[in-house]
Amino acid sequence: MSTTPQETEIKKGLAGVVVDYTAISKVNPDSNSLLYRGYPVQELAAAKSFEEVAYLLWNGELPTPEQLEEFQARERAGRALDPVLKTVIDALPVGSHPMDVCRTAASVLGARHPQAEDSSPEANLSKAIDLWAAMPAVVAYDQRRRHGQDAVEPRDDLGYSANFLWMTFGEEADPAVVDAFNVSMILYAEHSFNASTFTARVITSTLADLHSAVTGAIGALKGPLHGGANEAVMHTFEELGIDPSESAEDAAARAKTWMEEALAAKKKIMGFGHRVYKHGDSRVPTMKAALDAMIEHYGRPELLGLYNGLEQAMDEAKSIKPNLDYPAGPTYHLMGFDTPTFTPLFVASRIVGWTAHVMEQAGANSLIRPLSAYNGVEERHLG
Ligand code: COA
Repeated sequence: MSTTPQETEIKKGLAGVVVDYTAISKVNPDSNSLLYRGYPVQELAAAKSFEEVAYLLWNGELPTPEQLEEFQARERAGRALDPVLKTVIDALPVGSHPMDVCRTAASVLGARHPQAEDSSPEANLSKAIDLWAAMPAVVAYDQRRRHGQDAVEPRDDLGYSANFLWMTFGEEADPAVVDAFNVSMILYAEHSFNASTFTARVITSTLADLHSAVTGAIGALKGPLHGGANEAVMHTFEELGIDPSESAEDAAARAKTWMEEALAAKKKIMGFGHRVYKHGDSRVPTMKAALDAMIEHYGRPELLGLYNGLEQAMDEAKSIKPNLDYPAGPTYHLMGFDTPTFTPLFVASRIVGWTAHVMEQAGANSLIRPLSAYNGVEERHLG
């Protein structure tokens, strides 16, 4: 917090500012807890599918079996890659950042949506489900085209997570991998007024449409201080060097040394620290358990060595704890996603949270327009 010459209080980065109510999720940094519509996120991750959690976030209650069946059918019907969108993606350089591809896709799908100009609650929910159902095909196809592979048609006999993995890799994933991916989707889905969600709410507050809000939110998520951190975490691991034949102990020792040197050089290490959680991120234990399962599944203890070495050295030096992106990065790496795809996976999940906030904002709207304190040159005149 700083003050202007006129003693106006400035809350840089809006730190500590409460700007509105939300009934969607509750982040409690004191107890390191996160509730979605009242349910602890770790309970949801242990027992529910991402589809059920999406339904909960949008509707406020978990679905009955009949509601779930109808909802799943709706999602499955919207999975195919829109041919016009495919043409647009194909026109983008193969080297385009996948987040730019996602952002473009959200915009194209908005312009092509039959209810593009309808922002009624019913149209917004419908658009949210359509966008959520459509994004995995975009993310999967973009990774495949980077590897010179064709798009894979969706399967409507698979759940959201299994189908996402199917469309990306063209083979059915092991149930353990599907479970870990499902957990990551649930944990990434919603987190109150973070930068991208707030962006979506600002855009919605002007009465712009839902796809505009999501397109802007994707732009905000791209930065390494926000969603881009899961990709940046993997760059740290890559810089360290990943050698599957290395022992976990040797990997941990190298990682500790790397971290000590990086901190001595005053580097900011992605995947650590959080604006709200100062004693640890509520989502990390659940995601770390999913990472442990994947390390076991793929037989890669050296990755755990790197993970533990970095975490311990950071804790000893600065007591800064990992955030969700830290265990998520190596988990996605083990599953076979290439590093630039990590943040788009976050997009695919967070579409749910963003659009829940779009609907909440639209339902009790007030234009979001803060003030600024001028500190430029004094008034002057041309002549
Ligand atoms: N690596 C090294 N030092 C870190 C750090 C990190 N990841 N995160 C915070 N710090 C240090 C800062 O350098 C600062 O030290 P100082 O007081 O000596 O200057 C102190 O901790 C406070 O950090 P600050 O950046 O002011 O906290 P913040 O609340 O504004 O920032 C983040 C929160 C998330 C932006 C910050 O922790 C960060 O940049 N983390 C890395 C990016 C990341 O993982 N983002 C995903 C978030 S879910």
